[in-house]
Amino acid sequence: MSDIDLFTDEALRNPYPLYDELRHIGPVVHMPQHGVYAIPQYEPVREASLNWEVFTSTRGVTLNDGFNKATEGVLICSDPPDHRTMRKVFERPLLPAALKSIEPALKDEAAKVVQRLVEQGRFDAATELAQHLPLTIVSKLVGLGDRGREQMLDWAAASFDASGPINKRTTAALPKAQELIGFGLNEARPGTIDRDGWAAALFTAAERGELPAEKCPFMVLDYTAPSLDTTILATGSIIWLFAQHPDQWDLVREKPSLIRHAINEGLRLESPIQRFTRLTTREHELGGVVIPAGARVMLLYGSANRDERKYPAANTFDVNRKPSDHVAFGTGEHACVGMNLARLEIRLLLEELVPRVERFELVSAERRVNNMLCGFDKVEVRAVPAAGA
Ligand code: HEM
Repeated sequence: MSDIDLFTDEALRNPYPLYDELRHIGPVVHMPQHGVYAIPQYEPVREASLNWEVFTSTRGVTLNDGFNKATEGVLICSDPPDHRTMRKVFERPLLPAALKSIEPALKDEAAKVVQRLVEQGRFDAATELAQHLPLTIVSKLVGLGDRGREQMLDWAAASFDASGPINKRTTAALPKAQELIGFGLNEARPGTIDRDGWAAALFTAAERGELPAEKCPFMVLDYTAPSLDTTILATGSIIWLFAQHPDQWDLVREKPSLIRHAINEGLRLESPIQRFTRLTTREHELGGVVIPAGARVMLLYGSANRDERKYPAANTFDVNRKPSDHVAFGTGEHACVGMNLARLEIRLLLEELVPRVERFELVSAERRVNNMLCGFDKVEVRAVPAAGA
């Protein structure tokens, strides 16, 4: 049991020392003040994620019961067999073959934005660099029109904040999070959304009987709310890590095949989504600890990814580590359906930066304070151009 508060501003900016304490306490830590059983170690997080029969998502994946009720229709809040029916349709534009077809457009845009920023010399990696691909190309492909695009970043951040336990931050975010749900239910409909977009394809699939029609308005939001901030925060954090560790940037420049591993290592160390929850359907023993039936269980991805039992020198950024089994994308039934897209967007930016930038010098950085997310609102860097770039 622990009375550690993971939701103070200070803890949200730097949860890692608290995670060390929680992992030390045990595989399951009852946190009565948050009304949850936290799972801070790597293996138990994997075990619970893989066992949807006991750790159900149908009662929501946040710490806020009201928000869990309001988001009942989204993909992440379902279990098999419904989940598999929905995911089969949802994942179509995110499968490797589909991503191949959009890669040239993303690559072109990545080249343009990197060239411009490197010429500019000093830029904010958290906004100017990280937001470009998700906000220009990906939002257009989803096809929710201008209002959807303009509001989505605000709405998405609010819905992650509204996913916290009932505190000031959660309550303040609720009106915006409800706007997002209202947009999905009332506005993002055939007639107003782009006919050829990913969102419209859901409604077409429902007409063909592949999907219950009432799921579509919620699933539209699944393409946007969890896809923007996450990828954007990951990109900013990775540049921040390279600015802190120029020796690791040198390694990647010497051997660009390390880019893929560096992305996983960045996601492991600075996991953009720190936690989701489940509800136990029955009493269950995890890591030798009995969790009662009907308990809210918090999977601490950000802590699991720094578990020394799994990753020696876990707090060290090491691009040679190759931690492809990290849980920053979750694992099991609900493993992130957009992970290949996110990795593609980040890889294309890094592939353009590697030949052009010799070093990132950190000018200033500001951490995001959010109930579920981790990363930076600002990562201002000076990019020292590579010779001949
Ligand atoms: C670096 C970027 C990303 C991170 C760190 C991330 C993280 C996660 C995590 C941890 C989960 C697992 C939740 C669970 O087990 O309950 C998840 C699921 C999900 N993600 Fe991502 N995500 C990212 C990018 C994306 C993108 C680009 C999209 C959409 C295009 C997306 C859409 C989703 C959806 C819809 C789910 C639910 C999947 C399901 O329930 O089957 N994510 N993500």
